[in-house]
Amino acid sequence: MKSKITLAIAGLVIVGAIGTAIAQEASNPAVKARKSIMQLYAFNLGSLGAMAKGDVEYDAKAATSAANNLVTLTQIDQSRMWPAGSDSSADASSRALPAIWQNFPDVMAKGAELSEAVVVMQGAAGQDLESLRAAMGGIGGACSECHKAYRAPNN
Ligand code: HEC
Repeated sequence: MKSKITLAIAGLVIVGAIGTAIAQEASNPAVKARKSIMQLYAFNLGSLGAMAKGDVEYDAKAATSAANNLVTLTQIDQSRMWPAGSDSSADASSRALPAIWQNFPDVMAKGAELSEAVVVMQGAAGQDLESLRAAMGGIGGACSECHKAYRAPNN
């Protein structure tokens, strides 16, 4: 009896390991890399947003740090993170619409909008809460403009 249970558990562990291997194989490292940058955008914008909403007390140092991070993130060279054939129709782990590869100049322009908006935030975040709030819209707008055009809905 005991050995049967042990065997069953061993079987589950093996199935689990294979499942993980398949999941990892399905995800292109370039897709993982660009999604990681997006997560870092969201984390840092989230800190600023929490202060803007009053959920977290305004802290000039923390706000400046988040804004600096956003600027640094927009300076990362993403050119190898968007290879052809890594769109949502080719890679189940991606929500990047094929339209990206047909409109690259526009995608770059939307990226540039974000770069400008985070530099505005860098100048504003450490001043006071009002300045931080005023700079939020530019960043939120830049994120959502690109998502509306080039990210598949979450389903
Ligand atoms: C130039 C276009 C563009 C801009 C600007 C942009 N995104 Fe994205 N974002 C995308 C695309 C495309 C995806 C889908 C990527 C994929 O799944 O391969 C995405 C995915 C995401 C995801 C999901 C990541 C995951 O793990 O699946 C988050 C979160 C995100 N973006 C946050 C942001 C935030 C916050 C900003 C602004 C600070 C931003 N994005 C700016 C295009 C953009």
